[in-house]
Amino acid sequence: MELRGRSKGSRARVVTGLTLLLALGGGLAAGVFPGQPGGEGFAPGTHVVLGTNDLGMHCMQQDYADFLVLPPYNTLHAQVIRRGQSPEIIEGDITVTYMFGENTRSADKVNFWDYAPALFGVTVPPNVGLTGSRLRGTMTRTANKDWAVTGIPITPIRDDGREDAYQLATITAQQGSTVLARTQAVVPVSWEIGCNLCHGGPTESVGDSVLRLHDQLHQTTLSSQRPVNCSACHADPALGAPGVPGVSTFSAAMHGAHADRPPPPGVQNSCYACHPGERTDCQRDLHASRGLTCTDCHGGMVDVGSPLRTPWVDVPKCGGCHTRAGFEFEEPGKLFRESRGHGGVTCLACHGSPHAMGPAVTTIDNHQAMVQQDMTGPIRNCLVCHTSQPEDPFPHRRDD
Ligand code: HEC
Ligand code: HEC
Ligand code: HEC
Ligand code: HEC
Ligand code: HEC
Ligand code: HEC
Ligand code: HEC
Repeated sequence: MELRGRSKGSRARVVTGLTLLLALGGGLAAGVFPGQPGGEGFAPGTHVVLGTNDLGMHCMQQDYADFLVLPPYNTLHAQVIRRGQSPEIIEGDITVTYMFGENTRSADKVNFWDYAPALFGVTVPPNVGLTGSRLRGTMTRTANKDWAVTGIPITPIRDDGREDAYQLATITAQQGSTVLARTQAVVPVSWEIGCNLCHGGPTESVGDSVLRLHDQLHQTTLSSQRPVNCSACHADPALGAPGVPGVSTFSAAMHGAHADRPPPPGVQNSCYACHPGERTDCQRDLHASRGLTCTDCHGGMVDVGSPLRTPWVDVPKCGGCHTRAGFEFEEPGKLFRESRGHGGVTCLACHGSPHAMGPAVTTIDNHQAMVQQDMTGPIRNCLVCHTSQPEDPFPHRRDD
């Protein structure tokens, strides 16, 4: 597919700049923090922090007693920028923390900690994730000019018991005790993985069905080895698991084998049989609002299951469809979530997570852009980072 560049974009930006200048006056009410929850309008401070989950959805399971597909494991990024005529991305001498106001525990919500020793051969203390992260803590500097925390063991259950796949992390950048900037970003997690739509029933559990069928069809003895880590044999780059040579990758096995198994009635989008899902609706970005769905970008089950591709690496690229003149997209050899553009700012910081990019269909995913620039994303208000409207046009490329 080829998208042609449109001059409409640059005109829209001029209008945007004016709106912002107008918004500025009203927004500078005393005590309003940039990014403070409830902060209204556009009220820039000395710094700005923009946070983003690396994936638009992380899947985990509700039960680990039988097998493991994916553990609780969210990864959050943030970029801290000192506002100025020439903004500066801050890399050192500050502390960047994250926390969830309405979610402080996990171990009483899922049995992951009971089975982690058998699944991974390590004992992890309750509420601590596989990389040592907790539901609140400090982010570390990365080589990509941003800050990150990997493997947050968050579940979709808040402390009040409510299920919520789209919870907000509050991210604070501090220098000593001085708060420089604060923001809130969605950390999406869901256990709506619909194996139960086709496996298990009144007489057999989901785990019994999956493991029994695997043993029958592939001469294995998984039923007697619970809990089974599927990536012990099937390579899975998401877990850094090399797998057993000669055995299909986990993605190729799952998508290849299920390609001819139609979803049950009620599942409109066949990918939502296993990806969250008819209820969670994890693809909620601007493309969703323009009618693009999973298969428009990824192809069908057979394409995703092709043994010729490396799962998690050979994924669609923005630059594979977008060809707007003068714009650069992913950096060579890097994924969207690893790339940086304009002045070294990450793609994530301005656009948000893949599948949740603004303007998103969902209010919560537009929250950060609304708080930071008083309009939905991408971040396009120059004054979020620049202290005066730059005279030169916006370079949509990395030339830092
Ligand atoms: C759309 C329905 C559907 C969904 C959703 C589904 N499966 Fe299956 N699965 C099947 C069918 C049908 C079979 C084959 C049953 C048979 O041969 O009797 C199967 C077989 C399997 C097998 C046996 C190995 C093989 O060669 O296929 C495994 C393992 C498996 N599924 C795992 C899963 C897991 C894990 C999930 C959730 C992430 C899942 N399935 C979701 C329909 C489904
Ligand atoms: C002990 C090693 C081992 C483990 C653990 C294992 N598998 Fe397999 N699996 C195999 C082998 C071997 C095959 C058949 C050869 C192949 O697909 O490469 C297979 C085949 C499959 C297939 C069918 C692939 C196809 O193309 O027809 C699916 C689906 C599958 N496994 C899913 C799973 C799931 C889900 C788990 C975790 C519950 C799992 N496997 C755990 C070894 C394993
Ligand atoms: C039968 C269950 C099932 C269905 C249906 C399914 N997936 Fe998946 N998918 C999985 C599982 C399980 C994983 C996680 C694999 C891993 O951890 O490596 C996954 C991972 C992926 C990944 C990331 C890994 C990779 O291969 O790059 C992509 C992309 C993906 N699925 C796309 C799709 C699309 C598009 C559809 C619909 C055409 C779809 N899936 C339907 C089970 C399914
Ligand atoms: C507009 C195109 C587009 C649509 C529509 C889309 N994806 Fe993606 N998907 C991508 C891109 C681009 C990436 C790679 C992101 C990156 O490089 O960081 C990706 C990556 C993924 C991954 C790997 C994990 C991740 O988030 O990076 C999975 C799983 C996935 N997509 C599943 C789906 C499913 C399921 C649907 C439908 C519900 C879907 N995608 C719809 C473009 C799309
Ligand atoms: C499969 C092709 C495809 C992929 C891959 C894709 N897009 Fe798009 N994108 C589209 C289409 C089609 C539109 C709608 C264009 C229209 O309505 O004129 C669009 C629209 C957009 C727009 C709105 C542009 C405007 O002028 O309104 C943005 C921003 C955007 N995409 C960003 C991205 C990003 C970021 C990625 C990578 C993470 C990406 N897209 C990946 C096809 C794609
Ligand atoms: C400083 C903020 C910022 C950064 C960083 C940024 N973008 Fe953008 N991006 C924008 C704005 C603003 C637009 C224009 C949206 C419009 O015209 O409506 C845009 C548009 C796009 C589009 C749609 C182009 C079209 O066809 O109209 C894609 C795709 C895209 N960006 C991908 C990326 C990728 C990939 C990166 C990282 C390498 C990136 N962006 C970094 C702000 C940013
Ligand atoms: C998310 C933060 C952010 C936003 C929003 C942003 N910029 Fe920038 N911009 C930067 C950073 C960081 C640099 C790199 C400054 C440096 O080190 O030279 C930069 C550099 C530039 C430069 C290169 C010259 C310079 O000042 O260093 C131009 C021109 C520019 N931006 C224009 C724009 C315009 C026009 C907009 C609004 C459409 C915009 N920027 C929005 C962060 C941003």
